[in-house]
Amino acid sequence: MSNKEMVESGNQKIEWARSHMPVIAAVREQFEKEKPLDGHRIAMALHVEAKTAVLVETLAAGGAEVAIAGCNPLSTQDDVALALDTRNCIDCHASYDCSTEDYYEAIDKVLDFGPDITIDDGADLIFKMHTERPEMLATILGGCEETTTGIHRLKSMEREGALNMPVIAVNDAMTKFLFDNRYGTGQSSWDGIMRTTNLLIAGKNVVIGGYGWCGKGAALRAKGLGANVIVTEIDPIRALEARMDGNEVMPMKEAAKIGDIFLTTTGNRDILSGEHFEVIKDGAILANSGHFNVEINLEDLKKMAGSVRTARKNIKEYDLGDRKVYVLAEGRLVNLAAGDGHPAEVMDMSFANQALCVRYIAENTLVNGVHSVPRELDISVAEMKLKSMGISLDKLSPEQTLYMDSWSCGT
Ligand code: NAI
Repeated sequence: MSNKEMVESGNQKIEWARSHMPVIAAVREQFEKEKPLDGHRIAMALHVEAKTAVLVETLAAGGAEVAIAGCNPLSTQDDVALALDTRNCIDCHASYDCSTEDYYEAIDKVLDFGPDITIDDGADLIFKMHTERPEMLATILGGCEETTTGIHRLKSMEREGALNMPVIAVNDAMTKFLFDNRYGTGQSSWDGIMRTTNLLIAGKNVVIGGYGWCGKGAALRAKGLGANVIVTEIDPIRALEARMDGNEVMPMKEAAKIGDIFLTTTGNRDILSGEHFEVIKDGAILANSGHFNVEINLEDLKKMAGSVRTARKNIKEYDLGDRKVYVLAEGRLVNLAAGDGHPAEVMDMSFANQALCVRYIAENTLVNGVHSVPRELDISVAEMKLKSMGISLDKLSPEQTLYMDSWSCGT
């Protein structure tokens, strides 16, 4: 494709996403009128694809200058990156399948741009500033973090007294994790697995590593596709929840012997490692939807394999002698590295939260540390989403309010 065709294709994808994101459209309308981000410079490290482009445009519409890098070497869509780069006030430094050096060089470039607000998905910008460019922290008003793993990283920095800027934990907004992590990851992981393998899910033993918000969604959708779902967990409450939701629960060592398709969603490392590959079934398909590519231990798999070859685009076959095992998208998040990521309607809410939190940072002085998304912003996103869906709610009557607030109305 020529550059011109790439830009056209990127613009088509962005337009399609934009037309399915009514909440962020409403935020953009406010931003265009009020220009709350005038004079601000925003550095972003996010998956550079169409929905993210809609967020970038919204921030620019609010008056900001924006520079964006990727947050994963395999999740950038080059046509979208090129299309974004043609816009005023937006610099895009991301490309698909870049080397580790190019990945971190791009992170440096968006920091060179001199931001006063950051948006991360995985905390790479914040981590880089704290470890290599601490002088930048003096002019940073605050940052937003998109994902569970990024928030884990930031909370551990905070616990150790090492977090020297305010960050809003956007992932922890109810209108983010309840929908994006559950229904977004639930649907898009299976989309990535199905379009990559072109295989049937019905009748298979599907093993979901972790029954958090992403795992619950992934298990629910696997069941809907006709799979027999097995969950592995370390948390007794989540394991119990998985069982009562109708899944089997067992240790990975047991599940490895019977699973046909494995999907890890824990945010932890070595969910599938050497001890599991020792017993794993011939033909097993391994995919990950957790943020980093550490959930499937590919080093262990490489050591055990006689040979590795590409079996099909985005599928590596590891030949273990008596068995073959297939890894999708190099163990990187399969919904983005082998698909288009979450549905636009879900990112509509996640990115409306991001845009409103960036505005909040621009208009308020926050102390260093991890902050929750202000409750009123979270509720406003839910209200805007319901309105866009044509759904209205009941309202409490004065008698109901009184009843709910009272401790004396027992009969
Ligand atoms: P969560 O904290 O709600 O759930 C993680 C679950 O994994 C917990 O129930 C935990 O007990 C379990 N777990 C941890 N170690 C385990 C082990 N060794 N074996 C079995 N279970 C284990 O986190 P959430 O929100 O579900 O996110 C999970 C990961 O997915 C994170 O890395 C997050 O950043 C990422 N994520 C990816 C998205 C995508 O587009 N692919 C979207 C949203 C989040």
